[in-house]
Amino acid sequence: MEKIMIAKLWEIFLMVLVFTGSAQAAADGNMSRGGMRRLAGAPVAPVPITLLTSAVGIGAVCMDGTPPAFHMDPGSGEGKNRWIVHLEGGSWCESLGSCLYRKASRLGSSDLMNKELMYFGGILSSSPAENPDFFSWNRVMIRYCDGASFAGEGYDAGTGLFFRGQRIWNAVMQHLLSIGMSSADQVLLTGSSAGALAVVLHCDQFGAFFAGRDTTVKCLADAGFFLDAVNVAGGRTLRSYFGGVVATHGVAQNLPTSCTDHLNATSCFFPQNIIGGIDTPIFVLNAAYDTWQIRESLAPDGADPSGAWRACKSNRLACNELQMNILQAFRNQMVVTVLRVVSRSRSNGYFINSCFTHGQTENPATWNAYDSPAIQNKTIWKSVGDWYFGRAEVRAIDCAYPCDYTCYHDMEDQLI
Ligand SMILES: *[C@@H]1O[C@H](CO)[C@@H](O)[C@H](O)[C@H]1NC(C)=O
Ligand SMILES: *[C@@H]1O[C@H](CO)[C@@H](O)[C@H](O)[C@H]1NC(C)=O
Ligand SMILES: *[C@@H]1O[C@H](CO)[C@@H](O)[C@H](O)[C@H]1NC(C)=O
Repeated sequence: MEKIMIAKLWEIFLMVLVFTGSAQAAADGNMSRGGMRRLAGAPVAPVPITLLTSAVGIGAVCMDGTPPAFHMDPGSGEGKNRWIVHLEGGSWCESLGSCLYRKASRLGSSDLMNKELMYFGGILSSSPAENPDFFSWNRVMIRYCDGASFAGEGYDAGTGLFFRGQRIWNAVMQHLLSIGMSSADQVLLTGSSAGALAVVLHCDQFGAFFAGRDTTVKCLADAGFFLDAVNVAGGRTLRSYFGGVVATHGVAQNLPTSCTDHLNATSCFFPQNIIGGIDTPIFVLNAAYDTWQIRESLAPDGADPSGAWRACKSNRLACNELQMNILQAFRNQMVVTVLRVVSRSRSNGYFINSCFTHGQTENPATWNAYDSPAIQNKTIWKSVGDWYFGRAEVRAIDCAYPCDYTCYHDMEDQLI
């Protein structure tokens, strides 16, 4: 059975803390590198969950038929009329079997979600020290329980599985618009990993909600630039995996027509084939050595029967010269593709740093701490803010590994 590939170490770390009863230590503490750090400041309160039960009637449900859910921390002061909508990540399921397995988890059922224990960190933080640009905004995290980046449409009678990602997207967005977001001055759609792919897929749909208004609308995709890459055995693991996701969930009908008018649905699930057709400004933030992509797309177990990549995949220091050359080629593909696709529009931005990590906006240590990752001394929160508010253009590509000494290499530094 396909194992659920959860990409966000920060979230797992918090869950571990929550379950061991020391969540407050994570919220208030400032453990040094090697653990998790948070800037000193006001203690962060958990943000409660809202179940959108009214969405069930229109079939907008999690895989098991339970209502969709979100967490919202209301804005205050200057931020009262500004909204961040963040789409939760957590991989996908690509077959009826793996979706049945996923249904029995918080990623497939709101019955199984932690109800109050969502700590908003990084770009979602309410702390002015940790999140100077967005702390006072309305901040919403939409929970991920459909298994296809909020883009599926279908139902399987044999298994009773619901594939209703697109309906969840529409229902939650309509709800947020109705409770004040429709009159927002500034909005930002964000997400990490599978949530970032969802951002790419829905960015122009998000923009359309504010058509004809003066609203500033932009999108930020963190760790969502999943390349259509060739694996170390010469195959295309992610392409066939995405093919399964698209077919199982009935995603094709919800993909941007600017892509599907010239490529097939599987190809149109790859950001590199969508972003060039997006009109809404978008920022691509990605580690060039994206650890999820290295493990699951470049050197997955299936393409490495002898296990030659096993050590290297979880620790860059264990890579031999040949493996490092392959990782450098992967980085080159990432850089070349970002330059080709994202820089097409002047209103886009990007930040491609040379770290071994996956997801850098929700983790306080990578978003804004005294030793957070930076490119030419400019950190991620500053880069995203400069781009969003038009304070500066942000088109940052790091020099190749190992030149960057600001990295937060999650696989080794963030032991859990
Ligand atoms: C954070 O670290 C500093 C320096 O080590 C220490 O003095 C302070 O008490 C710590 N704060 C918290 C909340 O643990
Ligand atoms: C989609 O297009 C790609 C690239 O041309 C091709 O390799 C793949 O087999 C196609 N997939 C399907 C399901 O047709
Ligand atoms: C970055 O900051 C350091 C320390 O302040 C400085 O020495 C260095 O010149 C800066 N580098 C760049 C590229 O701005």
